[in-house]
Amino acid sequence: MDQAASPLEYRKSSINMTEEDFRTVSNLLYRLTGICLDQSSRQIVESRLSRHFRDSHAGTFSEFIEGTLLRNGQVGASLLISALTTNTTRFFREPAHFEIFSRDVVPQISRRARKGERVRIWSAACSSGEEPFSIGAVLLRDFPEVCEYDVKILATDVDRLVLEKGKVGRYRAQSFSGIDQNLSRYLVKDCGDGINELELNDDLRKLVTFRYLNFVEPWPVSGPFDAIFCRNAAIYMDPEVQARLWIGLEKVLSPDGCLFIGHSERLTSEVAIHFDSIGRTAFKRRKATLQTGKGNSVCL
Ligand SMILES: C[S@@+](CC[C@H](N)C(=O)[O-])C[C@H]1O[C@@H](n2cnc3c(N)ncnc32)[C@H](O)[C@@H]1O
Repeated sequence: MDQAASPLEYRKSSINMTEEDFRTVSNLLYRLTGICLDQSSRQIVESRLSRHFRDSHAGTFSEFIEGTLLRNGQVGASLLISALTTNTTRFFREPAHFEIFSRDVVPQISRRARKGERVRIWSAACSSGEEPFSIGAVLLRDFPEVCEYDVKILATDVDRLVLEKGKVGRYRAQSFSGIDQNLSRYLVKDCGDGINELELNDDLRKLVTFRYLNFVEPWPVSGPFDAIFCRNAAIYMDPEVQARLWIGLEKVLSPDGCLFIGHSERLTSEVAIHFDSIGRTAFKRRKATLQTGKGNSVCL
């Protein structure tokens, strides 16, 4: 039989987020990640935080913000980041990028790898791993001996929960629907009747390393990267944070490296001058420019 909710349960079932609560949450998320929330995100914020609020001992949403999010160090920060980041992704999202990668990047990096050189690719803001594993599948198809060489894909994100999912390397079977067999065979293990979840191919998993990296904190990477995919994360940030992100990526890209950004994102003119377009939101560093220590570029 249904029991009537106690006054406390009743109160806790609805967040009743005040304008000030929303401002506090948005400021905190901005400070932690550079992500901007506008008024249109209010309902999403309420619904994504409601479960955490109910699970907490806080009596009101303001107490939850204070006790669970603000005064809870790394735990509170991770909870907020995992609850409010948008992690939408899929295998071979924005598929033209993977054709460009195959056409313009793989021939160059396979030549270099065969000569014994180090090759690094960065999937920055990788979410649950579909993007770096798509890059890896193209590598395995076009350069089958890739695992014998010093070639690695670094996959980073600020959300620790999605990183765990990538590390596990199991995805719902339907995530692979619509992928050409010529690529899906490099993604999944042949595990017969995997109906609900499929496990990724071992060689593919060996190519990808998952790490925490927050764009608005110091980056524990030095590069150079032969290709960087940084797609559909900058779109959630304000122009100033985006501009700093593009400058940072350009600094760690190799002299003939390629940069892929989301189809709805744009490089600032300051960074765009260093690149030639090689396709929609795909860029190759322009040969004749070199970064000086002060961030100015000089012609060679
Ligand atoms: C929409 S997903 C994009 C995933 C993938 N790149 C793609 O295009 O399919 C955006 C990702 O950016 C990550 N992100 C947001 N702010 C970030 C930050 N400050 N540093 C690193 N990653 C961040 C989120 O956690 C999320 O997983």
